[in-house]
Amino acid sequence: MATPRSLVLRVNRQTHVLSVDPATPLLYILRNDLACNGPKYGCGLGQCGACTVLIDGVAARSCIVPTAAAVGRAVTTLEGLGTREALDPVQQAFIDEQAAQCGYCLNGMILSTKALLAANPAPSEAQIREALRFNLCRCGTHVEILRAVQRAAVLQREAVGAGSADGADRFDSAS
Ligand code: FES
Ligand code: FES
Repeated sequence: MATPRSLVLRVNRQTHVLSVDPATPLLYILRNDLACNGPKYGCGLGQCGACTVLIDGVAARSCIVPTAAAVGRAVTTLEGLGTREALDPVQQAFIDEQAAQCGYCLNGMILSTKALLAANPAPSEAQIREALRFNLCRCGTHVEILRAVQRAAVLQREAVGAGSADGADRFDSAS
């Protein structure tokens, strides 16, 4: 087992100093050390998307990201988007469209949608399908998820128009 090192992580706008093996998958640190249970363990191989987080606003599969690779960058998990009182527009859209059955995939669907809409606020249906093609849903709620992403795009554009801040952290602007 590798010797633990002291690493500084910025997760959901908070700074954490941790003593960990730098090769530990980021997912394990988020769930086991920082109690961020939004990201889920699905395949552990980078293939299902259940563990997705944003790193500097880009969707990443935290089960295959060594924790050391997140040092100096802004990590955002599902917990870092909205609150119960003020949901992120993407979270609201997934609720509105009742896109969950078991809900296990939704962490990845929602964070991948955040990354998509940050890059393309008005994606076509084909672009949404492309962006989410490697996020797997074993329950088969793909039609509802597609509708939720379309609704999320509308809600997020309205929120931006009303001056609401983007929920995703950026290390350079938040530190
Ligand atoms: S658990 Fe990370 S991609 Fe499946
Ligand atoms: S809602 Fe169950 S895996 Fe997608």
